[in-house]
Amino acid sequence: MASGELTPGAVQLNLPTRYVGQVIHYYETLTSTQEEALRLARQGAPEGCVIIADEQTAGRGRFDRSWVAPKGQSILLSLVLRPELSTLVKLNMVASLAVVRAIRRSTGIQCQIKWPNDVLYQGKKLCGILIDTYFSGEHVDFSIVGLGLNVNVDVEREKDVPSHAVSLSGVLGRKVPRLLVLHCLLEEMELYYEAVKAQDPIHEGWRRYVETIGKPIRATMGERVEEGIAEGVDEDGNLLLRRNDGHLITLSFGQVTLRS
Ligand code: BTN
Repeated sequence: MASGELTPGAVQLNLPTRYVGQVIHYYETLTSTQEEALRLARQGAPEGCVIIADEQTAGRGRFDRSWVAPKGQSILLSLVLRPELSTLVKLNMVASLAVVRAIRRSTGIQCQIKWPNDVLYQGKKLCGILIDTYFSGEHVDFSIVGLGLNVNVDVEREKDVPSHAVSLSGVLGRKVPRLLVLHCLLEEMELYYEAVKAQDPIHEGWRRYVETIGKPIRATMGERVEEGIAEGVDEDGNLLLRRNDGHLITLSFGQVTLRS
């Protein structure tokens, strides 16, 4: 089953969440679930509202990259959240930890996190996360957590999918039911989001999966480039980088590459 597998009726059957995924807008094709989520959030879509597409014609990644996924083989979704500022800074942790836990529960696959929020399997990318946040002055209006997870993508055959990608089916050597993964994902999202709202510490649990720690890295933040050893993370999920000159600096975002 491909198209139609993730329609609201199917997804919401026995979905044990209070609000994440209790409102779903499903589309066969969209430009980008992020753009549709933005439109709906501006119209007052409730926290937990999920936008799902089987195909995107202009999927967006981080750093203005595109996100390419063949129709009906991935989970492509955007989740509308309305966090306080103190919760907002932890959304990277919430989303990546939820993805890792959902994959583990639904398939048994043990993934790693490349700081800040790429989900990898043996160094190859399984899932990308893009968080767009909109403010009114100092106040957070809403965040849109976008997530592209390669479930049954045949990365060898799909020429437009980057060569550093991997899919759940590629790891297991069999098709994986997208609905099962999505169910676990919505449940884990609510669980970790609620934990952060209740000020429960999740960074220790998250940190265990961050494979970047202890490695020599280069971090690029626009024009700024920093190099050193990734020494650890703080409780908001920021990266602590020991620069080559000995200074310890804190990075809240950036693109990381491992140095040999
Ligand atoms: C990354 O660059 O790693 C983040 C990729 C995020 C892709 C997802 S797919 C669903 C949602 N809609 C988009 O246009 N982008 C995100």
